[in-house]
Amino acid sequence: MNQFTIVGLSGGLSSPSRTLSLVALAVDAVARASGRAGLVPHSRIIDVAALPDIGQLRSRADAGTPEEEALRAVEQADLLIVGSPVYKGSYSGLFKHFIDLVGYRSLIGTPVALLATGGSERHALAIEHQLRPLFAFFQAQPLGTGLFLTERELVDGRIVAEPAQQRLDRLVEEAVHAAEGRVRLRTRLAGAAA
Ligand SMILES: Cc1cc2nc3c(=O)[nH]c(=O)nc-3n(C[C@H](O)[C@H](O)[C@H](O)COP(=O)(O)O)c2cc1C
Repeated sequence: MNQFTIVGLSGGLSSPSRTLSLVALAVDAVARASGRAGLVPHSRIIDVAALPDIGQLRSRADAGTPEEEALRAVEQADLLIVGSPVYKGSYSGLFKHFIDLVGYRSLIGTPVALLATGGSERHALAIEHQLRPLFAFFQAQPLGTGLFLTERELVDGRIVAEPAQQRLDRLVEEAVHAAEGRVRLRTRLAGAAA
């Protein structure tokens, strides 16, 4: 009953990708913290750029197995941890293309942690102005704390700045709290149905 799924989704295009490393770091931190809180997390990370046919995919009906599986995993997640590099002041086009294929009613009430990486602090608010409204469209529940990091704060997949680490710690706390809420709700609904 305490089981829940965490799905990390990265819209980075580079290889290696700083965004993918940030998503992996956050998924790992949330999984460990939720385990300490008595939950049983199952986590998976989706690297959109690694989906073989995502760039050619024009509609959900044409999705091949890896793309369909990834879309379903996102739609069925108890907790989403999404990250995109900032491209021209917003999320990457490939990230949005993947999201455009997600069922519009599938994320209602899903907690979503919002992450982004960028070249400078100038576009730190891309989380608030781009990612947050995107998930509001889905009636998802973005966590209050988002995390935007530049290359000065995220080096070789590790956070090297204390304020950024504190922000991640807060995001993790909020994510675990949201996951506990999801599990409690599921338990209550299962009890009512029995
Ligand atoms: C096409 C392109 C556009 C970019 N536009 C921005 C931008 O508007 N603002 C910004 O802060 N960084 C911008 N960047 C820098 C990337 O956001 C940054 O390097 C990011 O960490 C790359 O993540 P990745 O390693 O996951 O690809 C841009 C990079 C590229 C390739």
